[in-house]
Amino acid sequence: MSSAERLAVTAEAERVLRQNWHEGERQGIRFACTEPSPGRYPWQWYWDSCFAAIVWRRFDRERARAELESLLAVQRPTGFVGHTIFWRQPVSLSRLLFYNVTSRSALQTETIQPPLLAWAWRIAVGDPAAEPRIAAHMDWLAANRDLEGDGLLWIVQPDESGLDASPKFEPIWGRRSNGRLGFPLLVRHNRRLDFDARRIRERGGPLLCEVLVNTMWSLSLQATGRPSATPALVERLWDERRGLFVDEAQPGGLRPQPLTWASLAPLALPDLPEAIGRRLIEEHLLNPREFLTPVAPPSVSVSDRGYEPDGGHGLLRRYWRGPTWINSAWIVWIGMRRLGYEAEAQTLADGVIAAAAREGLREYYDPRTGAGLGAKDFAWSALVAELADPDPTAAQSHL
Ligand code: GLC
Repeated sequence: MSSAERLAVTAEAERVLRQNWHEGERQGIRFACTEPSPGRYPWQWYWDSCFAAIVWRRFDRERARAELESLLAVQRPTGFVGHTIFWRQPVSLSRLLFYNVTSRSALQTETIQPPLLAWAWRIAVGDPAAEPRIAAHMDWLAANRDLEGDGLLWIVQPDESGLDASPKFEPIWGRRSNGRLGFPLLVRHNRRLDFDARRIRERGGPLLCEVLVNTMWSLSLQATGRPSATPALVERLWDERRGLFVDEAQPGGLRPQPLTWASLAPLALPDLPEAIGRRLIEEHLLNPREFLTPVAPPSVSVSDRGYEPDGGHGLLRRYWRGPTWINSAWIVWIGMRRLGYEAEAQTLADGVIAAAAREGLREYYDPRTGAGLGAKDFAWSALVAELADPDPTAAQSHL
């Protein structure tokens, strides 16, 4: 990988972040944030913003803070922060069917996304424990989503994981999964129950204890000095036989079979037991029949029946079904480096950097060829700067 390519992708990351930056005011509230992609995603998304803030810290620390402050600006007195915030314009009529809102005039959705705000704040802004609004946000999550009191969170529909139409949700939600025609029925059902996890459980669920959400939750807990959720994650979701983390659905205790990159996401946890991390890497991430492709890691294992490396086709766009996303590459790369797989981490980074250098910051990439897919000028793909120019300072040592 030439240093010219590294510099080029870092410059491109800055260009895209600056281009997608949007400031204004809605319902009397000021905001300033990075939209995920011009045109296609005209609002603020919770986890996209966390990733954008992490990269903004390299170019403009004020913007990193403003990005995360805009999430906190819509926080309700309960501590809740929704997964999409409609700053620019209200939800269109056609999108109403698919969006987790109570009405068209809503400023935000009623659902969550992977809760990495406190961790992102630690990396990009400062000590999240010194920010009472973050504490309130974490308290809301614990009070409303830790349904079994073991420290792990439960989600009420697939898009709360950020992994929308991943095939791993189909054994649970079936034709009501994201990207399937029945999804609006799930939204309607949950809307009637105010997207309240306990009420949804009382009505028969399903609910899911999902690996990626709980990985981000554990990182945030640790970033604020609260007890880690990693021991509970291992206790509940680690599958010793498969050497993987696997979600659990309730009622019924179903453990979905499809193998996706989310099973490897706990690699980002600094307190993950080392033996587990090594199994994730050696048996799966470095396995050419699973996640070792030229541009890795594919969002679904190459061996899986649901693997669609070009993202699939159809009426509804289907995300996370095989292509490589740059946030996932960054998350597993953190663990590879921590556990000493330096050369392998570099190879993975090189694959992603080369794809971004050639194709620009796309939403996702074909894991075989690196062809860019989905939205263009996609903000969180700016995380390629973390791979191209690792930060040796305090922020990175926290990783
Ligand atoms: C898609 C992704 C989700 C993301 C959103 C905005 O819905 O699946 O993770 O937050 O787009 O980029």
